[in-house]
Amino acid sequence: MTLTLSDTTPIAKGGERFVFIHPDNPDWLIKVWHERFHKKQEKRVPIVIKFLRLKRYWSLLNELTEYLAIRECAKPNLNHIQQIVGLVDTDLGLGMIVKAVKKENGELAPTTEDLVKNAQYTAEHDKALDEYFDWMRDTDIIIRDFNLNNLVWDELAKKFVLIDGIGSKPGFSLRSFSKAYNKKANFNRIQKFKTRMKKALS
Ligand SMILES: Nc1ncnc2c1ncn2[C@@H]1O[C@H](COP(=O)(O)OP(=O)(O)OP(=O)(O)O)[C@@H](O)[C@H]1O
Ligand SMILES: [Mg+2]
Repeated sequence: MTLTLSDTTPIAKGGERFVFIHPDNPDWLIKVWHERFHKKQEKRVPIVIKFLRLKRYWSLLNELTEYLAIRECAKPNLNHIQQIVGLVDTDLGLGMIVKAVKKENGELAPTTEDLVKNAQYTAEHDKALDEYFDWMRDTDIIIRDFNLNNLVWDELAKKFVLIDGIGSKPGFSLRSFSKAYNKKANFNRIQKFKTRMKKALS
């Protein structure tokens, strides 16, 4: 069955994907990759992409791989990353179904960027962010794209949730080869995130 999404307005949009509310379940979202992203990839991606069996789907496949890898690790705590429900065919291409993180009033959860921009970032968020960094240090998660728009605030669970940016780059990854190297790579991302936060808050 192919879901029709082309006559619906996305609830959110990133550089890579459109985000729709699932027509049959408002607690789920469907993420579909926009054609523009695929075109851009074809032009500027590293040569390694050309050797992949499924060139279009490297970011989806790496996200799925990482999601499964986190489920297997010693301290999984799946509350810290977006729950993946499955895949679905849509008239805009293959879609990934995920659980929506929502506010108490049912709207989509704010990103960290939203919290800062709207002067809603409090000491409670600051504490939860430190806990998030601790979790990152404790797990072997591979986070590629750790920025303020990919981390949303779950006000019901009082936790930050990463909704995008997990998984390694296409091709061979030193990060999946060496845990020590990956820890350092995540540490660098935490430092960068802190710098961006400082700048955004000032
Ligand atoms: N599971 C979720 N729960 C709540 N909001 C979400 C969820 N997934 C995505 N969003 C919202 O949709 C926006 C875009 O989603 P996402 O980051 O997955 O798109 P993208 O195109 O991959 O982003 P990027 O520009 O970082 O590549 C997010 O910044 C967030 O506001
Ligand atoms: Mg994003």
